[in-house]
Amino acid sequence: MTHIYIENKSYEVKEGDNLLHACLNLGFNIPYFCWHPAMNSVGSCRLCAVKQFRDEKDTRGRIVMSCMTPVKDGMRISIDDEEVKTFRAGIIEMLMLNHPHDCPVCDEGGECHLQDMTLMTGHIYRRYRFKKRTYRNQHIGPFLNHEMNRCIHCYRCVRFYCDHAGGRDLGTFASQRDVYFGRHEDGVLENVFSGNLAEICPTGVFTDKTFKRHYTRKWDLQTAPSVCVHCGLGCNTLPGERYGTLRRIRNRYNGEVNGYYLCDRGRFGYEFVNHELRVRMPVLKKTAPHLPASGDEKISNEKALEYISHLLHFGAKVIGIGSPRASLEANYALRALVGPENFYSGMSEREAGLVDTVIGVLRSGPARTPSLRDAAGSDTVFILGEDIMNTAPMLGFSIRQSVSNKPVEAAREMGIHEWDDAAMRIVRQNDRAPLYIAATGQTGLDDIAETTYRAAPDDLARLGFAVAHLLDKDSPPVPDLSDGLQPLAKTIAEALKNARRPLIVSGTGCGNESLIHAAANVARALCSIGLPASLCYAVPECNSLGLGLMGGSSIRQAFERAKSGDVETVIILENDLYRRADAESVDSFLGSIPNVVVIDYLNTRTALRGHAVLPSGTFAETGGTLVSNEGRAQRFFKVFTPAGPVEENWRWLCSLLSVSERAGGKTWKTTHDITAAMAEEMNIFSPAVEAGPPPEYRVRGQKIPRQPHRFSGRTSMNADKIIHEPKPLDDADSPLSFSMEGYEGAPPSSLMARYWFPAWNSVQSLNKFQDEIGGALRGGDPGKRLLEPSTAEKISYFNNIPRAFTAQGSEWLFIPLYHIFGSEELSVLAPGVAELSPQPYVSLNSHDAARLGAEEGSEAVISIQKRTFALTVRIDQAIPPGVAGLPSGSPLLEGIIPPVMGGISLGGGKQ
Ligand code: FES
Repeated sequence: MTHIYIENKSYEVKEGDNLLHACLNLGFNIPYFCWHPAMNSVGSCRLCAVKQFRDEKDTRGRIVMSCMTPVKDGMRISIDDEEVKTFRAGIIEMLMLNHPHDCPVCDEGGECHLQDMTLMTGHIYRRYRFKKRTYRNQHIGPFLNHEMNRCIHCYRCVRFYCDHAGGRDLGTFASQRDVYFGRHEDGVLENVFSGNLAEICPTGVFTDKTFKRHYTRKWDLQTAPSVCVHCGLGCNTLPGERYGTLRRIRNRYNGEVNGYYLCDRGRFGYEFVNHELRVRMPVLKKTAPHLPASGDEKISNEKALEYISHLLHFGAKVIGIGSPRASLEANYALRALVGPENFYSGMSEREAGLVDTVIGVLRSGPARTPSLRDAAGSDTVFILGEDIMNTAPMLGFSIRQSVSNKPVEAAREMGIHEWDDAAMRIVRQNDRAPLYIAATGQTGLDDIAETTYRAAPDDLARLGFAVAHLLDKDSPPVPDLSDGLQPLAKTIAEALKNARRPLIVSGTGCGNESLIHAAANVARALCSIGLPASLCYAVPECNSLGLGLMGGSSIRQAFERAKSGDVETVIILENDLYRRADAESVDSFLGSIPNVVVIDYLNTRTALRGHAVLPSGTFAETGGTLVSNEGRAQRFFKVFTPAGPVEENWRWLCSLLSVSERAGGKTWKTTHDITAAMAEEMNIFSPAVEAGPPPEYRVRGQKIPRQPHRFSGRTSMNADKIIHEPKPLDDADSPLSFSMEGYEGAPPSSLMARYWFPAWNSVQSLNKFQDEIGGALRGGDPGKRLLEPSTAEKISYFNNIPRAFTAQGSEWLFIPLYHIFGSEELSVLAPGVAELSPQPYVSLNSHDAARLGAEEGSEAVISIQKRTFALTVRIDQAIPPGVAGLPSGSPLLEGIIPPVMGGISLGGGKQ
């Protein structure tokens, strides 16, 4: 630490920081545009000027850009000096010359950094009276609007998009006095982190197009802390609602997890909440036993509970099927209702097995699973068999940041500040930390990889085992390793050995257990030679790990049990079984059970087969805990209460518990009660109780408001129904209130419902809530880790090395290919995501395609598991011989769960 003087007062700051960072850390307001806490300083906007004095006798000083000036011991500066204030006001005036005065109709209005900074500098009146420069806007896809006239040329967009996110189709185009930020032509932005531009851009050039479709003023949004449900990483989000409709998702900062960013699936996949497929009323089908067969009947919640409670009498044969997309609490309540021996996790046999293996590896250690921040700090990465840019996109983002770590260390040694963008570019040149990718096809990180290796899953696993053996001879050798693979294994092993913070990444994506074992062996071998290796597995869904920790058999076992006639009633919690097993098995399972009760928010194919369907709330309409792939338990809170009889999933189950003879009088009133009961029964969940304060938590006797203090219209927004202002709804389940009254200061980080600070209306106000800018939130980042590796266990290795894959001629190995847009069940219901999802296809390499006589666009007939269907051929050189790729999650392929063997023949036409 070092001392500087600001307005002649001494302050302690961190050595090496730039002045802007240091002053903002201290709580001073210095206006800025081009600087961003997660990006380097470029000194382009000239707004962050302060005055620096030589010593205490110097009264004139000189103006410097604080974002470009490193702090030095004894440095004296002024933020309030009149000359520097005039300078900053002048800069804003210049930037505003061409900026339209469209704040009242601008999509950014109300949370615009330019508005804030304009007011902060005191530039109130415009003197410029002439014609403004105008630009043509572009269509850049379904997610973002482009309104170039609002641009102030801070370069933040291209710096984020190209330098940080790895995008290549957004650029700066300049001619004379015109500088343009956009694509070379209209078209969808290719980068899957493009949505962050809406938060990165300090004005309204890039704004959320999905929000515009159901726009409301930002200060009229009701918000609550939440967690993304579209993959297993647990990124933190801030969903916003108005009039019972979810309007948008914004990033919620978590220094250890997603930091300042979200992927586009997480940001724009939310519209399933407003989808017409939603179940809005309890329904008893005409097929339900004990009912007059008069047709499907929409009934009251009470009648639904009454009907179902009859099915739960003492001695009834009831089973429950849980869901990896439902909270721990909902799953646990179902487990309590039916009894642990009758609880099935809802995962397929394979998925459950893979998740179990991941948990076993992470528990036994010694490699620790990293947070996304830790992953970004690695200096050598080996990805084994997982297409993380499509299965866990923000992990891919972290790894993209990690490859720049090598130059950072070199710069440090040269005494260069890592925030100095221009200097770092010189140091960096094209130097990168090594990244090795072994995958079944192309990945979104191939452009920064040192080497990519493409092969069938078993061959990838063999490479992993070979690397592990080279690192530690106790790890089993790979028999018959091909000569071609020996040098690659050696190169990877050597690079990992020379790393200071190596990271091994794998996952469940390929559906191949050997890959998980091989990755574990590599990480363990690194630990055995004294390196602090991290090991990260991508898991399929938002609570796969949590459900894996809870236990329960797979659905295959439920199917077997039903076959024996031992099931009278099944309660299925938010789970479309047709996505997890072949249709024939699911049909016969559901057909064999007299009473099928489905609790879900979507009318899935499974819900359509239910005799009784209870409408549950989505993540935005309920609360609970999700466990991420890191093993981090995180609380999410109800954003709004939907109209009508939709109830939280756990509340339906608790109501059933309270009327069921089987449950022995269990009554849980809140999710916190359930978490506590769960922790008492299963030790592993004890830290989850601390993941968020209990419902009775108050700050100075007050709840935390979900509505901002500027929330408008509450006296009139229900005037069409009632002329009085209704009393805000109670929320006995959390310390948050459904009103604008309550504690306005900074709540604990897990309860942060929005970022706002006097004079800071944009997302930049986040600076005011962090311990250190870019670091942890005050009081610690949200979430509690449930899994820490054992340090006591002796290192052991997996030795079930698979045989090398050989192409089978007429039999093909079908593998899943993932798409960030289209492979995930919920987000695909959002119109923008659906628009970017691929049509069903089969991917072959050109050699195999030629063998079949197929070319790009040919029709191929696929035969898998007694099903035959036609797909369009896509030629992809990255697909290994004898292997065919199918898009995961495609509705046409529902029930087909690769990897699986099957046949391909040439169809009749070209599509
Ligand atoms: Fe320092 Fe832009 S923030 S010059």
